Amino acid sequence: MDWKFFASVDEIGEGEELAKDIEGEAILLVNVGGDYYAISNICSHMQCKLSKGSLEGFNAVCPCHNAAFNIRDGSVVRPPASGTPIAAVESYEVKVEDGKIFVKI
Ligand code: FES
Repeated sequence: MDWKFFASVDEIGEGEELAKDIEGEAILLVNVGGDYYAISNICSHMQCKLSKGSLEGFNAVCPCHNAAFNIRDGSVVRPPASGTPIAAVESYEVKVEDGKIFVKI
């Protein structure tokens, strides 16, 4: 695992999110209150992109069947509408140095 440059802080304002593929990992970076969090951009239910969904506080909501994941640790906050149990998504460590955001991959 290594720190990889993700974006500059200018690219993602407060309350915004940014999705990128880095080293083969689809990652969703979120800025909540000036703090940055990174989780997998791929829903563990049927692989929809969480970046196409919405952000509710610290939860990323999947656009397909409404599952929600905690952006702080990737845990499942709400299962899909069908009630099917699903796994947590990967979460990644984030650090900021000199206005640059890095994600540990
Ligand atoms: S694909 Fe995300 S809730 Fe179904």
